[in-house]
Order: sequence, then C-alpha cells, then structure tokens
Amino acid sequence: MNRFITFEGIEGCGKSTQIRLAAQYLIEKNISMRQTQEPSGTDIGRKIGGILFNRGHHAMCSETEVLLFFAARAQHVREVIIPALAEGQWVLCDRFSDATFAYQGAGRGLDLAFLNRINDYCAPQLKPVMTLLFDCPVEIGLERAKKRDDQLENPAFSDRFEREKVEFHNRVRQGYLRLSQEDPARFRLIDAARDEHSIQQDVRACIQECIGSFNPVG
Ligand SMILES: Nc1ncnc2c1ncn2[C@@H]1O[C@H](COP(=O)(O)OP(=O)(O)OP(=O)(O)O)[C@@H](O)[C@H]1O
Ligand SMILES: [Mg+2]
Repeated sequence: MNRFITFEGIEGCGKSTQIRLAAQYLIEKNISMRQTQEPSGTDIGRKIGGILFNRGHHAMCSETEVLLFFAARAQHVREVIIPALAEGQWVLCDRFSDATFAYQGAGRGLDLAFLNRINDYCAPQLKPVMTLLFDCPVEIGLERAKKRDDQLENPAFSDRFEREKVEFHNRVRQGYLRLSQEDPARFRLIDAARDEHSIQQDVRACIQECIGSFNPVG
C-alpha cells in the first residue's frame, strides 16, 4: 500500500488550485505530506519543463516531447516521490503517468504499449492509490487558463500546450475519461465545471476516504 495521490485533468481544470487546498487540509490535520508536481518537481525537472513548455519550441516532435516528460518523471520518482513515501509521508502530485497516456497517447497518438513500457522503466511499481480526475469541458478549462495567464507579468510565459487546438484538448479529455473507466477502483471523477468550494468539498471527501483506509477510525 502506498500513500500516493495524483491530481489529473486538462489545462485549467483546477488541479493546482485543488492540490493546494488539499495540502492545507492535510497540514491542518497534522498529517505529514509532500506536495509536488510534474515535470517540475525537481531542479532537473524544472529545466526540462523550460524546454517542454517554451512556446517558441513549435518544432518539437512528439517523440522528443514524451521522452523529456519521461526523463523528468524518472528523476522525480527517485529524488522526491519514493523517498517521501519511504518516510511514511502522503504524496500529493499534480500530474503523473496518466497525463502521459492522455496527452501523448490520446492527444498525440503515440503507441500506448510503448508508453506503458517506458513508463514502467521510469516509475517502476509506482501506481497512485487514488487519482482525482478533474473533468470539465475544454472551453471552460482553456478560458480559466487564459484568464490566469493574462494576469502574468509576462503573458509570453503561457505554455506550448495551451496553444494547441481545441480538438487536441478534447482528445486529451476523452483519453483521461477512458483511463478512469478502465480503472474505476483508482479513479475518482470530479465535476470541475463547478465553483472552487464545491470541488474542494469533493476533494476533501476523497482524501478522507484515502486516509481512513490507512487509519481506520476507532
Ligand atoms: N472551480 C473554479 N472555477 C473558476 N475558476 C477556477 C476554478 N478553479 C480554479 N480556477 C482558476 O482557474 C485558473 C486555472 O486553475 P489552475 O491553475 O488551478 O488549473 P490547472 O488545472 O492547474 O491548470 P494547468 O493545467 O494549466 O496547470 C486559475 O486562475 C484558478 O484560480
Ligand atoms: Mg497547474
């Protein structure tokens, strides 16, 4: 059993907002946890992310893209996730392997069997105990992400993925939904088109369910 929970979903669905609130919730409960994210959960991953998200890199082919994400994951798993789990911490991670299957598999059309093999190499035996999938229409997610990025000091930092066409994001969304249907025991599907507070209530219930399964209340 592990204490590894991942947060997944399309651009702007609210993963980072909700993982922050979930982390606060665990801190309030005095539960030891580590909040992290892909690909930028390590120094090396941040540098890889700089290459991946640079919107000037329109020449990047899908094969390069996926291998860079995998390189960041291999580092992240060994440097951050496994040590934190070994210490008995809960690990909340903003995007993980499912993102690769949804974006590079369903979105870019790369071979899923191949992605599975490389993923096993980068993150051996590491499967989240629970994955929260924040689902909303692509238009809502992209609009939220756009609003967020318009407030950046330098809007040029909005990333390469947000500039993809709506059809790409729809394939990613459908890819995520398929993954959740294939593994209903692990996934919790959350309607992310609602307000932050309602979503937060659902997230808390999921986290509570997870924690409860480790520390049955007497
Ligand atoms: N339920 C919500 N309703 C309206 N706006 C929201 C909601 N949740 C988050 N937001 C806002 O939408 C924007 C995107 O949210 P957030 O950054 O959490 O999404 P994300 O899924 O992490 O996006 P990305 O995939 O780009 O990392 C932020 O400005 C955030 O404040
Ligand atoms: Mg985010």
